[in-house]
Amino acid sequence: MLKIEDKPVSGLLDLSGKRAVVTGAAAGIGYAIAKRLAEAGATVLITDINREAIEEAEHRLSSMKCKVKSLVSDAGREADIKSLFSYVADSFGGVDILVNNAGIYPATKILDMSLEQWREVIRINLESAFLCSQEAGRIMVRQGTGGVIVNISSMAALKPCFPGLAHYGASKGGVVNLTRSTALELAPHKIRAVAVVPGGILTGGVRSNLKQSEEKDSLQSIGATIPLGGFGQPDDIARTVLFLASDSAAYITGTTILVDGGAMLV
Ligand SMILES: NC(=O)c1ccc[n+]([C@@H]2O[C@H](COP(=O)([O-])OP(=O)(O)OC[C@H]3O[C@@H](n4cnc5c(N)ncnc54)[C@H](O)[C@@H]3O)[C@@H](O)[C@H]2O)c1
Repeated sequence: MLKIEDKPVSGLLDLSGKRAVVTGAAAGIGYAIAKRLAEAGATVLITDINREAIEEAEHRLSSMKCKVKSLVSDAGREADIKSLFSYVADSFGGVDILVNNAGIYPATKILDMSLEQWREVIRINLESAFLCSQEAGRIMVRQGTGGVIVNISSMAALKPCFPGLAHYGASKGGVVNLTRSTALELAPHKIRAVAVVPGGILTGGVRSNLKQSEEKDSLQSIGATIPLGGFGQPDDIARTVLFLASDSAAYITGTTILVDGGAMLV
């Protein structure tokens, strides 16, 4: 096999022979990530809580000649995560790339927030990243061939973007720090971990929040103030994850990559 420095530029993003798992991959950012990883040659297991949507995503990606398999799995349920990674170990042949993408962002102001609402966001956004990283990490260590874990955080990890996201910001700040510890502890096994911080990305989830939210105007005005000229697209995040998952990023671990069109500058 060629050393990285001897690979031609055209081969730097090649993921042929790699096996990837992407959570929350039926739509939005997760779907775009799965598509780019598969286009680069990886075999991708796409998981989601929504059966109809994930089966439709598998169908769509397969028709583009992508090697994908879908599995219904709730990232907020420990039992589902255990059976997902049993499947990965027994039937998928292992895992080289994990993308913890599944997440929810319901808005509730802190004085109105119930403990149940707080816990649900922490469970789906943070606990799932911990449990999936642990399960995938154990498999990667057994395989002995390294691996990559990419955690999708949020700008809300760095600042409260708008009111109603205390639980969300706490969960995504947790994801950033989980990433750092994962990177440190798994580096001896050549397993890298990186957090991606998207800014405002136009997805179905964001669109339906825009429709429901009383903060509609302020959200739209946030779009107008982004230095690069508006919200990003799911593929902006997908191309970043593709780079991080590839050999091009072989010396990158434990860090946080901001993909926000400059939103944090203003
Ligand atoms: N869109 C943005 O502007 C933005 C910004 C920062 C961070 N993020 C993060 O990116 C990730 C994806 O966001 P999106 O905007 O694409 O969301 P989305 O709502 O458009 O899509 C999320 C997908 O995750 C699935 N999902 C939800 N709960 C799940 C669960 N418990 N188990 C498995 N799957 C589940 C949904 O069915 C859906 O297919 C999230 O972690 C989100 O916090 C998004």
